[in-house]
Amino acid sequence: MIHKLGACLLALGLAAPALAADPAKSLEEARIAAGEVMFRQNCMTCHSPDTAKNAFGPSLSGVIGRPAGSLPRFAYSDALKSSGLVWTEDNLRKWMADNEKLVPGTRMRHVSITDPAAQDFLIAYIKSL
Ligand code: HEC
Repeated sequence: MIHKLGACLLALGLAAPALAADPAKSLEEARIAAGEVMFRQNCMTCHSPDTAKNAFGPSLSGVIGRPAGSLPRFAYSDALKSSGLVWTEDNLRKWMADNEKLVPGTRMRHVSITDPAAQDFLIAYIKSL
């Protein structure tokens, strides 16, 4: 009996630090992980997650807060370059939901990610790049 109690207390002692780990941080990590999966499925054929690399699409590292079409060494469409947009989270959501509606004439193939949770995950992942 005493023995069992001891084991139980020991198990509690081991579990406690894990439980005490910052829940907000693990939630953010989970969102980033979910966003990475979505990015692989929907964006990575054209956008490299590699920080400074442009692929078929421009690098999205540091894109939040950046004026649209502003990376050097990437051949953007005139439509995107002259859009006057800044990539706020809100504009990114609109872009993911219907990029051709936000910037008619863009060279990026149409994407349609309209689920706000999916947009959240993608934004969390893009922020982590
Ligand atoms: C078929 C290839 C392709 C896919 C898939 C794709 N993109 Fe793009 N993306 C591009 C191209 C090409 C551009 C440049 C568009 C232009 O110049 O009009 C671009 C531009 C962008 C920009 C603007 C970047 C800047 O520097 O102004 C963002 C943001 C973006 N894409 C996000 C995404 C996200 C998020 C996904 C996945 C949901 C995605 N793209 C999927 C090809 C793609």
